[in-house]
Amino acid sequence: MQHKNGSFSNSFGFILACVGSAVGLGNIWMFPYRLGQYGGSAFLVPYILFVVLFGITGLSAEFAIGRRAKTGTLGSYELCWKDKSKLGGKLGWIPLAGSLGIAIGYSIIIGWVLRSLFGSLSGTILTADAGEYFAKATVSFGSLPWHFGVVAITTVLLLTGSALIIEKANKVMMPLFFILFAVLAVRVFFLNGSLEGYKFLFVPRWENLKDVNVWIMAMGQAFFSLSITGSGMIVYGSYLDKKEDILSSSLRTAFFDTVAAILSALVIMPAVFAFGIEPDRGPSLMFITMPHIFQQMPMGRAFAVIFFLSVCFAGITSLMNMFEAVIESIQQKFGLGRKAAVLICSLICFGVGVFLEGESSVGNWMDFITIIVVPFGAVFGAFSIYYIFGYKNIEAELNEGRSKPIPGWFRPLAKYVYVPLTVVVFILGIIFKGIG
Ligand code: ALA
Repeated sequence: MQHKNGSFSNSFGFILACVGSAVGLGNIWMFPYRLGQYGGSAFLVPYILFVVLFGITGLSAEFAIGRRAKTGTLGSYELCWKDKSKLGGKLGWIPLAGSLGIAIGYSIIIGWVLRSLFGSLSGTILTADAGEYFAKATVSFGSLPWHFGVVAITTVLLLTGSALIIEKANKVMMPLFFILFAVLAVRVFFLNGSLEGYKFLFVPRWENLKDVNVWIMAMGQAFFSLSITGSGMIVYGSYLDKKEDILSSSLRTAFFDTVAAILSALVIMPAVFAFGIEPDRGPSLMFITMPHIFQQMPMGRAFAVIFFLSVCFAGITSLMNMFEAVIESIQQKFGLGRKAAVLICSLICFGVGVFLEGESSVGNWMDFITIIVVPFGAVFGAFSIYYIFGYKNIEAELNEGRSKPIPGWFRPLAKYVYVPLTVVVFILGIIFKGIG
């Protein structure tokens, strides 16, 4: 029986929706810097290793439990803990709070992207001092219309439908993201001095692999980038048909997420080096360094529009997934209709976010959510699925839609490598004040 919110029409639609969730700020403003900083192409060794490991065991588990439970976050944890512990089922509220919490902060940041897009269209961003222009939006209540605009776009999309509209939106926005970023990457290639950027990104510095920090950052990056939160991917799994092969969909999601990250690196770092700017990451890279580059680039306005439009697509498709996790759980838990649940989620998201628009407020909020709440959700998800629901049960779900059964090595990898690593990510995140 199908979920009452419908289902994705095929594996392509499902994978695009998951790629939409996974590709976001982590790929754009964090990965390029880390790739260069932590060893150039040598960093790809631990990164790809972790992406594959987390894709196979982590993403698959979240998709599978959602599909088995035929419902999203709250309902899936109730299924895992049924007959075992009432409290266990209730703890599912924590990963759900992680989805909501990250949506609150994310919508503020994507609001800044939307503002930069309009600033590029009007040309203001090319004439203004980039730092001052950004600072105006990052004071308390400084970004209201843009923040509201992002929540409104996401709300309207999700009000008009559920699984199918998510699929359709991703089918438009994700390919456009890849195409537009590819155009930018080609443009950047022809900038004088871009070669230094490619060297920064790709000349392997193998000795870095001896540094444990490199492995830790690769692990945190892979985890955050794949959106393993014990919540968002569960709801997409619940919209997946039994005839689809979860393991292969997970690997494909991980593959496209990595392509998006490398593409972002190819757009950003060569441009940064071509203009002799120090490589950077995070908000200042996106909202100060990039506009500074567009100001100096021939036809900079057009490229600024392309850049910020693509980032908007990446952000909104991630936001849709965070919203959907919350909406579906509200629908199920309180027996509410779709529209009411969407509006409740949007009101909370905007109502809380409105007080967090200052740069340090949203920064502290995002730190708390991404360092404590979300990694806890991921640990709780991994443990609940592989240990409480049980390996045999989840394996049976993973075998649905496959021509060959799940291989024998999957069990030890999931139970004794993946689950402990989620705990390691959680603890190291606290020690390092964020690794994802
Ligand atoms: N996985 C998403 C990102 O990378 C949330 O931003």
